Amino acid sequence: MIITIANQKGGVGKTTTAINLSSGIAKKGFRTLLIDTDPQCNSTSVFFSPEATERNLFGVFSENNYDISSLIKETKTPNLFAIPSSIHLAKVERMLAGEIDAPIKLKKAITPIDAMFDFIILDSPPSLGLITVNALVSSHYVLIPIIPSPWALEGVQDFLDTFKSVKETFNESLKILGVLVTLFDSRTLLAKEATERIKNTFGELVFKEVIHRNVRLEESPAFKEDIFAFAPASKGAVSYNNIVEEVLNRVGK
Ligand SMILES: Nc1ncnc2c1ncn2[C@@H]1O[C@H](COP(=O)(O)OP(=O)(O)O)[C@@H](O)[C@H]1O
Ligand SMILES: [Mg+2]
Repeated sequence: MIITIANQKGGVGKTTTAINLSSGIAKKGFRTLLIDTDPQCNSTSVFFSPEATERNLFGVFSENNYDISSLIKETKTPNLFAIPSSIHLAKVERMLAGEIDAPIKLKKAITPIDAMFDFIILDSPPSLGLITVNALVSSHYVLIPIIPSPWALEGVQDFLDTFKSVKETFNESLKILGVLVTLFDSRTLLAKEATERIKNTFGELVFKEVIHRNVRLEESPAFKEDIFAFAPASKGAVSYNNIVEEVLNRVGK
């Protein structure tokens, strides 16, 4: 089961969700792999020291028949494995311009390791470029985190257009797993109104659990921890655990 966390906006909680969803799923006993595809390397820096990222996902895009399995590293969470990104991934778009298999490079690399894991979670960059397309082409599902702000739905149509063309051209079985309301600020009426609009737009696709703004969630990456290790009793941990349950439910596990 391969799930991409995507939204072309930055700062909407993609990385936070990728880290905590994969740790949470791993904690339930599922063998899980987190692949960082973002050249900003935010998930990478939670799981790897800089020396340990010398070999990274860039190889998949820069070499033919690159063995992605050699990149898989254990993390300190049992059942959770990770693959690091690299700043060099920022070059991929230009490097592969015009190559006929550019959108399917990642899928070709991941297919042979799919069966080794119950879940593969892909963190993606804040753009609708070639890397996000590669992630969507490789996936069964996409999970879309959205901040409930007045401009929350701005740009969502562009995302849905990309989703649709990937589905039509490369990946018929791609589905939206759900829309996750993140960074909800309960003090503002605007957040409540925007959440209503998100629900009106996406209906049942919106996860029941909403992730509130939570200082522990913000702090945990600096300590190289997921929220369950860093602050297990925090509201953030409870919420992400509920999302894990909803995700497992939706995929039938
Ligand atoms: N629920 C939350 N509460 C507080 N801070 C959060 C929450 N979710 C994410 N953050 C913080 O907001 C910033 C952007 O989140 P991040 O997950 O990196 O977004 P993206 O990957 O979409 O750019 C990060 O500093 C992160 O630690
Ligand atoms: Mg990110």
